[in-house]
Amino acid sequence: MKTERIIIEDKEQPEEELLKKPAEILRNGGLVAFPTETVYGLGANALNEEAAGKIYAAKGRPSDNPLIAHIADFDDLPPLVTVIPKAGRRLMEAFWPGPLTLIFPKSELVPYGTTGGLDTVAVRMPADPVANALIRLAGVPVAAPSANTSGRPSPTTADHVWQDMNGKIEMIVDGGAVGIGVESTIIDVSGDEPVILRPGAITQEMAFAVLGQEVPLDPAIVSGPMKADVRPKAPGMKYKHYAPKAELTLVEGETEDVIQNINRLAKEKLSKGFRVGIICTEETRERYPEGMVRSMGLRAREETIAHNLYGVLREFDDLEADFIFSESFSRDHLGQAIMNRLTKAAGYHILNTGDKADGAND
Ligand code: TXA
Ligand code: MG
Repeated sequence: MKTERIIIEDKEQPEEELLKKPAEILRNGGLVAFPTETVYGLGANALNEEAAGKIYAAKGRPSDNPLIAHIADFDDLPPLVTVIPKAGRRLMEAFWPGPLTLIFPKSELVPYGTTGGLDTVAVRMPADPVANALIRLAGVPVAAPSANTSGRPSPTTADHVWQDMNGKIEMIVDGGAVGIGVESTIIDVSGDEPVILRPGAITQEMAFAVLGQEVPLDPAIVSGPMKADVRPKAPGMKYKHYAPKAELTLVEGETEDVIQNINRLAKEKLSKGFRVGIICTEETRERYPEGMVRSMGLRAREETIAHNLYGVLREFDDLEADFIFSESFSRDHLGQAIMNRLTKAAGYHILNTGDKADGAND
């Protein structure tokens, strides 16, 4: 299949004329990748089981992993769900359109092919003007996972999508680099109490402020490596995700200890002839004399770290790094999402420099 690529010059007010073709492809059961404020999505008509099926084939994604239905307006929600629980209503009023996905009990309109066989449906109303205009023009809810090959870092530019999807989908809508850079927060409001299934830019602290109650993380997120007996509520969280090709180690502890340890580990691997990547921040980049050093952004402004995270992981794939050593971040606010993605990319391989025995957590 030949993949067409169209470029949106004015991202704030995308030309409707340009979006007519991708909207028609979506309506007719084809696949279109498009930008959202979090990451690029790989869209298909969410109400068409066969179209949703094509997403799984293009991504090489297990078919029990449900898709998020993207909508353009509040009015698009009621047909997809059986109830809108109070917590869900308050969260959507506070954060939609935006980087928040909510899980509701699904209506009969939504096929099991979209929900991976579940009786719930994930719904999100993106704020990105290109995404919003495209969904509106398509006139149907758009099922869209991140537009990467399953197991690779999510795409934050149209070039990333091209690397993974060229030849597999009808069209890529190029709206430039995304803003946030990590996937939406997922909150399940279908049960008795809301639960965070995936941390994102709508933070635990922000959800607390709106609901006036703690919103716990799904235990499967906190418990580290997926154990057979802790089944994550978001089926996607059980797969090895966001994985770079190199072996990634996260180094935690006091800044000076972290820098020393990363330099030591890098030296060791370099001396054996390996290609070594180092992930640091603007504040520390001058402190690493050896290896392929990439800064993710300013530690003091965590949104810059989220923005560059997947791009840096992809760059190390291109550079064919064998080992990557990365600095760590606080687990508060946006740091929770950053550490969630980094920890998974590292396959839970964390070195805590505070531990007495060197490499105890290795
Ligand atoms: O920011 C985002 O959410 C991006 C953009 C494109 O909107 N999309 C995205 O989709 O990250 P995806 O498919 O890569 O991740 C969706 C996650 C998966 O972990 C999936 O298992 C979970 O949402 N999920 C979807 N429907 C669910 C449901 N009914 N119950 C529980 N988890 C669900
Ligand atoms: Mg994904």
